[in-house]
Amino acid sequence: MLKNDILSILKANKGKHISGQELCEMLNVSRTAVWKCINELKSDGYIIESKHKSGYLLMEEPDIIDYMEISPYLKAEFIGRNYLHFESISSTNDYAKEIAPSATDGTAIVAEEQTSGRGRMGRHWVSNKGQGIWLSMILKPNLSPNEAVKLTQVAAVAVVDSIKEIADIRSGIKWPNDIVINSKKVCGILTEMNGEIDRVNFIVIGIGINVNVQNFPEDLCGKATSLSIETGKILDRKPLTASILNNFEKYYRIFLINGFSSIRNLCKEYSLTLNKDVKVIINNNECIGRAVDIDDDGNLIVVFKNGEKKTIASGDVSV
Ligand code: BTN
Repeated sequence: MLKNDILSILKANKGKHISGQELCEMLNVSRTAVWKCINELKSDGYIIESKHKSGYLLMEEPDIIDYMEISPYLKAEFIGRNYLHFESISSTNDYAKEIAPSATDGTAIVAEEQTSGRGRMGRHWVSNKGQGIWLSMILKPNLSPNEAVKLTQVAAVAVVDSIKEIADIRSGIKWPNDIVINSKKVCGILTEMNGEIDRVNFIVIGIGINVNVQNFPEDLCGKATSLSIETGKILDRKPLTASILNNFEKYYRIFLINGFSSIRNLCKEYSLTLNKDVKVIINNNECIGRAVDIDDDGNLIVVFKNGEKKTIASGDVSV
């Protein structure tokens, strides 16, 4: 796409004017075509100085996480290479499920804002404009459904690494899939699956990260946080978005080749649930026990007060 090519050249020449003539020659297009793209970029939010005789200079880039902005940081080969970006959408997971049957493996759907963001157990997920990363990935692995559920924890490990890499802060995993900093949730993961008993058609992994959120609704105060609140800085969502796609692809490949046991040690290392007393809801009853292990299938092993050991596969576990 010509617009992308022009933007790449302007980005590569930051601080330097590039004349319309140079752009035409580099890209083998007309002056009118260049001029049209420059205007389109300006209306996308790029501040471009146009100076008679010297040419175009990229002054400022918008705070958006579309493909043009994240691709300089993207190393992943197939996760996020088909990247659909929306200014506003109801829910990236809902859209991902809609297009999944015909979408390519690894397609990413990213929105600046979700109007009906969804969390686990039918909860609402606050997804205000430009304040977070609201991302869904479509996966089509050759796995059975009980293998596929473990992908949530693969994604959790990737997110912890990305937060450390970009925000330089240590987060942890509240089993199985909440990412927490200082006892408050900074990221949630919602994995949804479509398939038959023994075969997965597609999986959608939805990741919501509170990046630059400053205020939460009253009911979330004390429970939710953002990277910006925790670091005291406004963070660049672009490298963080790409880093999540990069790290997810890395761990996803390892998982597909070697199984969950190859990710298990990291899940345990990053776990904030292990070696803590936990409340588990079993058949509508609240039971208290100690989380002692995460097994090779990603289950939480809990020992209860009466000495009974149980394997917890899913459900609400609170520390
Ligand atoms: C949870 O912790 O309850 C899971 C939250 C998941 C939120 C993400 S944001 C992107 C994707 N789209 C949604 O509607 N939900 C997930």
